[in-house]
Amino acid sequence: MSKSRNKTVALDRARPLARQQAHEIQAFGQVVHLPIALSESAARLSVTNLNQVLADTITLRDLYKKHHWQVAGPTFYSLHLLFDKHYEEQNDLVDALAERVQMLGGVSLAMAADVAETTIVPRPPKGREEVPVQISRLLHAHEIVLEEARTMARQAAEAGDDGTNDLLVSDVIRTNEKQVWFVSEHVVDVPLVKAD
Ligand SMILES: [Fe+2]
Repeated sequence: MSKSRNKTVALDRARPLARQQAHEIQAFGQVVHLPIALSESAARLSVTNLNQVLADTITLRDLYKKHHWQVAGPTFYSLHLLFDKHYEEQNDLVDALAERVQMLGGVSLAMAADVAETTIVPRPPKGREEVPVQISRLLHAHEIVLEEARTMARQAAEAGDDGTNDLLVSDVIRTNEKQVWFVSEHVVDVPLVKAD
């Protein structure tokens, strides 16, 4: 092989193979069987349930970031920090839920448009809202997640999927309950300076 031909071959190997396309290797909704000693029907039920709570958790997470940015008023600083803390905690839940879907052989929801189609958390306006309205939206979203997570946790336990039950109870339910406490105390109408 000539020297210049050698150089061309070497350069071809260094060239990134961008813009490749092919069929999906697994369609959304399909569940592959993994050797985790769990029935396919139990895995399928958990994948469906987890993708719903995942969509609602992504929406709640993003609601926290929206309110972190857009909050206004005398409690700006503390709520700005609190909303971001809760955003980070919800983000950890998003990762744990999505990875649980994958480890059960499913396909996790991921992109915003797909999440928007799936979530049952009401869509907020694009504009800014007052703190009590922001908090009401957050509390409503938390209650949606808590209600479905409790039902799904029981279903997972009955189906023998203890890992999904544990994730929903130990992480999703406990985190959401604690965040509800921290957020809801901001809409208790107690006097700021002079006692009643
Ligand atoms: Fe920030």
